[in-house]
Amino acid sequence: MCGVVAVIGKQNASQLVVEGLKKLEYRGYDSAGIAAAYNGTLQLVKSEGKLVNLINKLKKEFNDKLYFKASIAIGHTRWATHGNISVENAHPLTSENKVAVVHNGIIENYEAIKNKLIAEGYTFRSQTDTEVLPHLFMKYIRSGNNLLQAGRLVLRDIKGAFAFVAMSLDFPNELFISRNSSPLAIGLGEKSNFIGSDAHSINHLTQRVMYLEDGDHALIKSEDVNVFNANDEEVNRKIINIKAEIGLITKGGYRHFMEKEIFEQPSVIPQTISTFIKNQSEINIDLNKLGFKHKNTLLITAAGTSYYAAMVGKYWIEHIADLPVIIDLASEYRYRKPSVFGQSAMLVISQSGESLDTLMALRHGKKLGLSTNAIVNVEDSTIDREVDYSLYTRVGAEIGVASTKSFTSQLIILFIMAVALGKKFNNLKTNHIKNICAYIHALPGALAQMLNMENKIKFISQNIKNAKSIIFLGRGLLYPLALEGALKLKEISYIHAEGFAAGEMKHGPIALIEDEVPVIMFLVSDGNEDKAISNLQEAHSRGAKIILIADKNCIEKAIFAHFKIEIPNFQDDFKSLLSPFLMAIPAQLLAYHIANERGTDVDQPRNLAKSVTVE
Ligand code: M6R
Repeated sequence: MCGVVAVIGKQNASQLVVEGLKKLEYRGYDSAGIAAAYNGTLQLVKSEGKLVNLINKLKKEFNDKLYFKASIAIGHTRWATHGNISVENAHPLTSENKVAVVHNGIIENYEAIKNKLIAEGYTFRSQTDTEVLPHLFMKYIRSGNNLLQAGRLVLRDIKGAFAFVAMSLDFPNELFISRNSSPLAIGLGEKSNFIGSDAHSINHLTQRVMYLEDGDHALIKSEDVNVFNANDEEVNRKIINIKAEIGLITKGGYRHFMEKEIFEQPSVIPQTISTFIKNQSEINIDLNKLGFKHKNTLLITAAGTSYYAAMVGKYWIEHIADLPVIIDLASEYRYRKPSVFGQSAMLVISQSGESLDTLMALRHGKKLGLSTNAIVNVEDSTIDREVDYSLYTRVGAEIGVASTKSFTSQLIILFIMAVALGKKFNNLKTNHIKNICAYIHALPGALAQMLNMENKIKFISQNIKNAKSIIFLGRGLLYPLALEGALKLKEISYIHAEGFAAGEMKHGPIALIEDEVPVIMFLVSDGNEDKAISNLQEAHSRGAKIILIADKNCIEKAIFAHFKIEIPNFQDDFKSLLSPFLMAIPAQLLAYHIANERGTDVDQPRNLAKSVTVE
């Protein structure tokens, strides 16, 4: 993961780098640092913990508030991979106080390079893989190469996924950058240029952006940008205009971004709906672009919460369109020999559009000849740029590490896609589609109704906040919700939580039940509810504290439950297919309130980052 920023050609370069880093903390926040060339010396400031610690240190040490007056600076916010969280391991990493490098990704063959460099007399001060980069630059510059030549020699030595920026006091007006699998954008300014892990991090500085392609490297000066491909041939990469920064995204009066993002669902989901349903009932998804010519099997891959959305999508597409769907964890897909028999299209789902596992799965699918599609929130992200067809959730930036509004908006698109496929392949009639669209248009209102249950959920949270372990159950369509509820809870409250298909309890997990273990079940009347209630009864008789999130009918049947959250009744079977949308809200609120009760860092939980760009 990690975020890198660099500025060349502006007098307050270090200050601008810090501004950029503020927008990259979603990529990691366990330490941060900045290096700038000032008065012929390399100024290096690093600190452990969040960016605010670095900013305070800079203010304290450089009380003119402009930090140092340098026109070239690089910065980094870290998510540790190699080496613990410490100032020594924070970037920039340097060599001989002359070369500094910031890096996102992993240098896979660093051990061998490091041993060689140590034998040649270089001293390593960190446990990072990155430190080989500044020493390699130093070595090649010392032997007479300029920055561009040195960078090319470094690229020949290293293997892995990376995006890095290097600077050297010997070439005080140049930066060398390169990328392979990790993202890197160049912002083009007036007598100044900017580098960022994403375009958003530099869009307060310029709206003209160029993305490097895999294997590219570039020499950046304040008035020049020269980009080269992996064969060292100079190339022109497309310049695109991005939207100007409208100001920093704020919490808008909420305590946390996660809270804001949960509560804005009723107001942002209509944007997703209106993108894909026009004139009340015309579905705006181009099935030809999706690559579906016949009744093929659809492959969906994703990670984390986006994968759970895929699980719900599989259920819907098979149920509504009678099309077979295979889902696969993105981190597993390319490490098997997946058969594409009967498949013509793949769909990846990613909020950030940058998850490396998902990107790699996408590239693998492309190599296997599948047409590629994405449900993605961040436009112009790497996945968005690489797929044949993107379906945008359009719910605005999601800042909290826990996915909330992105999940419900991904579900909306999957449901609408299932209906479109149902029309084409399963004879779903226009009248029926009109009714379904009316249900979809009513969803934001239903989400708002669910949010009104916050006080009750808060009360339950207070009751179970000290549990050591919490079990989530669901069946059928609500099994993915059990997984999502457990993921949400564990990532922000640090309580051990597991989601199970209710029917699987008796095959092993029921051994976990003892007195007072909270068991949370999502349930709707779908004809199978009695079986699920029996599963719940089995947990109850072994001492579990039962929390039931269900419709009225189920709540009346499970009178033994200790806490009940009643969701609005679904009047018909088709409408009950939409239950995962509504159930997502109590799952999110429970996790949020339990985490709050325990005083954890809700928006930036330990060990995590919003965008996971390492394998
Ligand atoms: O940006 P993506 O949707 O590709 O991210 C995938 C997962 O990393 C993400 O959903 C993660 O599981 C969330 N933190 C869960 O809340």
